[in-house]
Amino acid sequence: MSNTAVNSILVTGGAGSIGANFIYYLVEKHPDVRVVNLDALTYAGNLENLKEIEGHPRYRFVRGRIQDNKLVAGLIREEMIEAVVNLAAESHVDRSIAGPEVFVETNVRGTLVLLDEARKAGVQRFLQVSTDEVYGSLGPDGSFTESTPLAPNSPYSACKAGADFLVRAYYRTYGFPTLITRCSNNYGPYQFPEKLIPLMILNAMQDKELPVYGDGMNVRDWIYVKDHCAALSMVLFRGKPGDVYNIGGNAEKPNLDIVRIILKLLGKPQSLIRFVQDRPGHDRRYAIDASKIQRELGWIPEWKFEKGIARTVEWYMANRAWWERIISGDYQKYY
Ligand code: NAD
Ligand code: DAU
Repeated sequence: MSNTAVNSILVTGGAGSIGANFIYYLVEKHPDVRVVNLDALTYAGNLENLKEIEGHPRYRFVRGRIQDNKLVAGLIREEMIEAVVNLAAESHVDRSIAGPEVFVETNVRGTLVLLDEARKAGVQRFLQVSTDEVYGSLGPDGSFTESTPLAPNSPYSACKAGADFLVRAYYRTYGFPTLITRCSNNYGPYQFPEKLIPLMILNAMQDKELPVYGDGMNVRDWIYVKDHCAALSMVLFRGKPGDVYNIGGNAEKPNLDIVRIILKLLGKPQSLIRFVQDRPGHDRRYAIDASKIQRELGWIPEWKFEKGIARTVEWYMANRAWWERIISGDYQKYY
């Protein structure tokens, strides 16, 4: 159920994979809500992800960067924005290792601009979509709770942690009503094929090698994107300002298991697996303790991994035109 006081929502990064799924979720489940999507359409932004909602009376797309303070201030005023959900980010760890500057620019400075303009305009709720990677790497036991100290290891996670600290400071210093979520690894429809699961599905479908970093025994906790969207919606409407909420899928798996499952689902040979050089600073294991959001907001992940991965493989098989346009670069001509 929506908090009726929050009807006009600015979602940033809505043309990315989680953002697009979240906009569909909001518009479908909250008939009283209007969504403005601010997205720069970087390489990761794809308006084809939002094709089914184009022209919808409760949805508007605006192309622009979250660091553009005039644009952000104008949009918040003009659209009478009551809540901001910040998903806009550079999101890929390997790219952050190759070139960290843009991660500082978008993930840190962009978040600061959004926070500041939203605060000045009297926005009622600000949800920062963060990541479990800010907590760093785990050994074989234990899991991250909301009070685990932040210890990021990649330029990506360092920038996300920097943004989290700014969000915290805006709550503590100005009393600005912020919320932070920290979710584990997403998978599902519309995910850009640089991330493990879609990359492996597309490579396997095309009989290409599947590059597994190191020994393939790094562990991630996988969550189907629709479960993440449901959790975001609960935190947005019902979360306690100033609080952090962990979100996880209860599906810890080593990368090698993921790759093997994908090959099996596609009926492709395991011989496509190639062990390649490890990612520098590669976090060994993430695991989320999501008991707080379960206890306080009643959220639980509905998608078992086996069902979610089968659905995801089917989605990429059924949407060949979508990913072929990404591979050819034609998706960037859509706008
Ligand atoms: P994505 O890379 O698929 O999408 C990011 C979107 O942000 C793109 O549409 C891009 O065009 C837009 N963007 C980038 N820079 C921008 C800027 N300066 N101004 C406006 N828009 C900009 O990312 P995703 O995987 O959908 O992740 C979304 C958010 O969720 C990110 O903040 C990420 O840190 C966080 N997150 C991701 C995961 C995951 O597993 N993918 C898990 C937890 C949290
Ligand atoms: O945990 C949440 C995070 O998950 C998000 O905050 C990030 O935005 C998102 O990109 C993701 O980060 P990871 O680095 O965990 O995801 P990625 O898909 O890049 O890699 C998952 C695991 O698979 C990781 O251990 C590295 C490995 N990997 C990845 C690729 C792309 C491979 O072995 N081979 C590959 O080609």
